[in-house]
Order: sequence, then C-alpha cells, then structure tokens
Amino acid sequence: MSLGTETRSPWVRLSRRRDRAGEYGVSTMQTRSINLRVDELLARMTLEEKVGQMTQVGVLQDEHVEMVRSGAIGSSIVASSAWAGHEDQPDVVVDRLNEWQRLAVQESRLGIPLLMARDVIHGFRTIFPIPLGQAATWSPELVERGAAVAAREAAGVGIHWTFAPMVDIARDPRWGRIAEGYGEDPVLASAMAAAAVRGFQGDDPAAPDRLMACAKHFAAYGASEGGRDYDTVDVSERTLRDVHLPSFRAAVRAGVGTLMSAFHEIGGVPVTANSHLLTGILRREWGFDGLVISDWNAVAELIDHGVARDRRDAARLAVLAGVDVDMCSGCYRDHLAELVRSNDVPAATVDDSVRRILRTKFRLGLFEQPFTDNHRSRTILHCAEHVAAARETAAAGIVLLRNEGGLLPLGKRCSRLVIAGPLAQARRELFGTWTLNGVESDVAAIADCVRQTAPRGMTVTAVGGLVDEICSAARKSDMVVLVVGEHPNRSGEAHSVDQLGLPPGQGELVRTLAALCKPLILVVVSGRPLALTWEAEHVPAILWTFHPGGEGGPAVADALFGRINPSGRLPVTMPRSVGQIPLYYSRKNTGRPPATCRFRSHYIEGSYRPLFPFGFGLSYTRFEYSDLELSAATMSADGQVCVAARVTNVGDRSGDEVVQLYVRDLVGSVTRPVAELKSFRRIRLEPGEGRRVEFVLRPEHLAFWRLDGTWGAEAGEFTVRIGPNAVEGLEGRFTLDNAVAQAE
Ligand code: NOJ
Repeated sequence: MSLGTETRSPWVRLSRRRDRAGEYGVSTMQTRSINLRVDELLARMTLEEKVGQMTQVGVLQDEHVEMVRSGAIGSSIVASSAWAGHEDQPDVVVDRLNEWQRLAVQESRLGIPLLMARDVIHGFRTIFPIPLGQAATWSPELVERGAAVAAREAAGVGIHWTFAPMVDIARDPRWGRIAEGYGEDPVLASAMAAAAVRGFQGDDPAAPDRLMACAKHFAAYGASEGGRDYDTVDVSERTLRDVHLPSFRAAVRAGVGTLMSAFHEIGGVPVTANSHLLTGILRREWGFDGLVISDWNAVAELIDHGVARDRRDAARLAVLAGVDVDMCSGCYRDHLAELVRSNDVPAATVDDSVRRILRTKFRLGLFEQPFTDNHRSRTILHCAEHVAAARETAAAGIVLLRNEGGLLPLGKRCSRLVIAGPLAQARRELFGTWTLNGVESDVAAIADCVRQTAPRGMTVTAVGGLVDEICSAARKSDMVVLVVGEHPNRSGEAHSVDQLGLPPGQGELVRTLAALCKPLILVVVSGRPLALTWEAEHVPAILWTFHPGGEGGPAVADALFGRINPSGRLPVTMPRSVGQIPLYYSRKNTGRPPATCRFRSHYIEGSYRPLFPFGFGLSYTRFEYSDLELSAATMSADGQVCVAARVTNVGDRSGDEVVQLYVRDLVGSVTRPVAELKSFRRIRLEPGEGRRVEFVLRPEHLAFWRLDGTWGAEAGEFTVRIGPNAVEGLEGRFTLDNAVAQAE
C-alpha cells in the first residue's frame, strides 16, 4: 500500500487531526442529536460523495488510495470474502487500517471515516463452536459471552463491523450454511440472535471492545430448494412471518445496527430488489433505522436472476428496494449518480440511505475516535479468560446421543483405550467454517487431550489412519473411541451436500470396528446433522459435537471421562435419511396424520420419524418430570397462565437439564404446527435435587400470521407440554378466551 511519503505514526497525525474529526465530534456530541449531525453533514455532501458512502469495496489496495481521498468509498471488507471463510486470510494489521482511516479522515474533503468490516462469525482469534454448536448449548448467556469475546478481540485490531449473527432458520441439513446459524426453530434462534447482538454491540457499539452487528441474511435464505446454496426460495407470506422473520425481528428488537439482504429470490423477487421485505416489513412495519447492506456482488447478480437488464438497472432496482450499501459489485459506484441525475432514482432515496449509513458511523463513534490503539490487541487476543469461555461453550454444546449400558463416562472398566479415526488428530479442522483468524497452534487434538485427561492406570493408544492398524490395536484394547465426521470444508457457504451419511470411507471404518465386538464410542465432529441411522442402532455410545472450535479437544476429553456431564441438546432434528428432508418438529398435522389409516402421510419404506428429535440430548444422570401445574384453565386477553413442572435429578451425578415448553394451538383460522417451542430454561441439579420450573405464557406467545393477514392470537384451546425435547413431556390444556391482536 502506498499512501504517500508520510511515515509518522498515525497516532501523531490523529492528535493533529482530532479537531478536524471533531468538527462533527466530541464538542457537539452532547448538544446535538445524531440525526441533526447527520443532516448537517449530508447537506455538505456532493452526489458523488453520497454514492461513495453507499459503496463498499473488498480489501483496500493501492488502486483505492485516490478513491478514499475523493470520498468514493464508505467501507471496506478487511478480508477476501470471495472464499467465504474457507481459506486463510492475511492478518488484520492495526497500523495499516489506521493508515487507511487517516487517509479518509484527514485527506478527504469531509473527513468521513471508513467503516472496516470483517466476518467475525464465531470468534476472532479465540475460536468458539460454530453457531449451530453454540445453539446446542441452549444458553443465550454463553452465546452472548462468545460474541462479546469475539467483539473484544476484533475491535482490538481495528474492526468496526461484523457480518454476524446469521439468524437464518435452517430445516435442510444438506444446506452447508446450516453450520452458521442457530438451527430450525424460530424461538431458539430468536433467543440466540438477541443474545449475539447484545454480545457484539453491548450497550454501546462505540465502546472500544464492541462491534456493530449485522443480522443476516434477510430473509428465508435457509429455505432454498434442494438445500443448494443461493437457490430459489418459494415460501408463503405465512411461513415467512411465522418461521423465517421472528429471529430477525428479535435481532432488531435487541438493537442490531445493520442487516444484510440475502442472495436468493423469494417467489420470483430477488431479495436484493425486494421492497416488500427491505422497506415494507423492515422499515415501515418494524421501524428499523439502521443500514441494509447487500450480500457480496448481489446487486450485480440481479442480472443473473433475470430481473435487471444491466448493471445500471441492477443498481436502480436495489436502491429503490432499500439496499443502502452495495457490497463489492461496483454498480452503485458506476451508475447511481447518473441514475439520480436522470430522475430514475429520486435524490431523496439516496439521501435516506446515506442518512442511515452516517447514523451507523456516528453510532459507532467513528467521528470521535476513528483510530485503533495498536497496543490493545496484544494483551487480549487468545487470552486465558477468552480461552476459558470458549472451552465452557464447547463443553456445553456437546450432545450425548446414545449411551447404552452406561458405557460413558470412561472409567474403571477400561484400562486399555484406543483412540483413532480421521478427526482424532484434527486441530484446525475443529474450528469449523468461517474462521479467518484462528491459529492451528492454539488447538490441541482430541486424541492428545484424551491421552492427557485419562486417569492413571489407563493406557491410551492413538492410532493413525490405516484400518488394519486400528483393528489390530482395537483387538488388544478394552474400548475404542473413534473420532469421525466432517472436514470444515464440507459445510459453510456454497458447501451443500446431497448425502447425509459420514463422508466416504468413514462408514466402512465404523462398521469394521463395530464388528470387532469391542465397546465402541463414536465422537462425531460435524458442521450439520448427519443421518447416522446405522450407527445409532449399532454403536453403543455416540457423543456429538458440531465443530467445537479451538477448545474442542479438552471439552470432548472432559466429556468422555466425565469431568463434565454432557448437557447439549439438538437445535435441529436429526433425520434418518436424505429422503425425509425437510424434517422438523413443528410440522403440520395434515388431514391424514402419520399414525392414522393406511392412506396417510408417511413413507412406504422407511420411517417418517426422526432419528433424534429436536431438543434431544442425554446426560450421565437422569431427570424425571412430574407435577405439571397450570395456574389457570383460561387465559384472558390481557392475562397469563403460569405453567410449571417439577424436574428432579434421579441419578447420582450433578447435571444440567434443558427444560422445554411446547404449545399446540388446536384449532385456528389456518392450520397450526403440532408443537411449537415457546420457552426453555437450562438448570443445574445436584443428585436427588428437584426444582419447580415455571414458565409464564401470555397471548403474545400464541400469536401467528392469521388468515386475515394480521399478527395475533386466536381464541380457543391449546395444549401445553413441559419436557426434555420436542416429543416427550407432561401435557396440560388451557383456553384463550378472546382473540388478541399483537405487534409482530
Ligand atoms: C457472502 C456471504 O453470504 C455473507 O454471509 C458474508 O458476510 C459476505 N459474503 C461477506 O464476506
């Protein structure tokens, strides 16, 4: 990068320039609202400078120097996003970012700072489990803390804005991006979305340890045909509102500063040109006043979708629909000013977009403090506190799916243990998709951690790749731990699959070892649910971890040896086969439910039931549910019903249970799901301890998109269930006495 001949530290120049930045900064901050300051600045901008604010480029390079000076760039992605997190990225260098910022703040006419963005998805240097694994913790507190750690590290090196959280509902495990979100359920995803926004932004995104968050990909991106990324979506307005929008609504309610529009089309209208979504719902109905950025090159892709004739037309459609920032297509840069001059785009539309962008920059405090202290990051990146948080989250997301005969935790019955399998020695692979700054040397392999954690007297032999070697070691052992699953490159953006078994060769390995008649324990490391139907029938113990991040090794070892008691629960339904997809717990009953007559909704071969239901997970202890109580048989329109049950740890170890509340609306103006999660609580119980767990249900929890196109609850009967997953539990009934309209 050549930015002229100056070589002094940007900090020296900063102090010289502070007054200039302060023109819109500290001195006036307390007395004028951000909106006034925005309008004042806007009034001084040329049309080209406005379009500059609406233009985002990729990694800043020499060719951008003059553009930054002339105000033609508003933000940059500090990464080559073309590879969607599937390859290493150069480190973020604070001094270089400060240099670019200096250029914008000191050498452009109006001194408007740049927004530096990067995909900080599940950790920056300290890598947490992939979001799907974080969802498996069913702990918004852990998700919030994980986002706060990521924000602290990324902000420490000069990043202002992350493209996270991804809050897309995913009901098709073939879709590679299921890894990046919080699973299949709107209520679970909403809780996690809000938690992540709080974690990234805190009370004030301008704080030096926070980032601006971006809820993406608005909306219904996870519903693509065939689970193929970027593909067509055709959902009804009802499914959109009931299933795909609530997690975005929750992010907006939590104060998310920005949203990203998605790549795909819905019912013939690409989201990048979809004013119903971007303006109608988001801005008019929800009152969102932050900025909307397109996805990468998505404005230009309106041509490929076949709704824009050329790049000019694409820019016109996107800006009129409500896309404020064009991510890297260059269509706004090349055509927007001319579109305004020719009256094809109203000047007011551009002004509104620029207001939202400037507001974001003011909210981030960039006018007051555009630079980053390049000493900050040294003490915080991968510090002990962050590593401990990542380990706790990795541990809490481990799901015990099977444990026949109490094979786990490993203990006295085993003195010779063999650990093998394609992921036993994996290190970087434990990170999962979208980790630009993870460092392999920070990670310990599962096999090494198992060796270190094993009790005295237990011999652990780690065996490499050859099946014969593994078998011969296994024959001499008491038990075998096989670590199988997916390389991170099998999930994430543009990495969809059409089969849901273990990757080639691994299934055969499992069968060969199972045939040895030695107790076999599978540890599955994966970016998605897999249909391990044979394994679930033939392998006595299965411990599941969605790519667990840098601390996956110790967390898995702790779970195997019972140092922690597995407490993760599935945030997605685990199917038996690809043919069952889409399979999710909150299905509709149909006119011919599966368990009725012969001519019913089912498969003539195979089961319609999942392999493991949503919310499922075992523990080394056992929990019993009893004493369901409802505070009233009737809920009034302005009232509530408290639903409670007693949960008791009837085993002999301390453990966490995730208590789940489901509701079914028995008769509606439209068909309603057979069960809908309404709330959940993660509790710790000591052996023998029982606790009454109470949930409060109000009409707002019963609301949906009604036949008349309004959001609200309808009078009638409901069943309510408190239980350990989507299909078990104690059931009661209550009635809502009157319909209630709600804000969506
Ligand atoms: C494309 C992806 O869809 C999106 O999630 C990501 O944030 C952008 N590229 C920027 O890297």
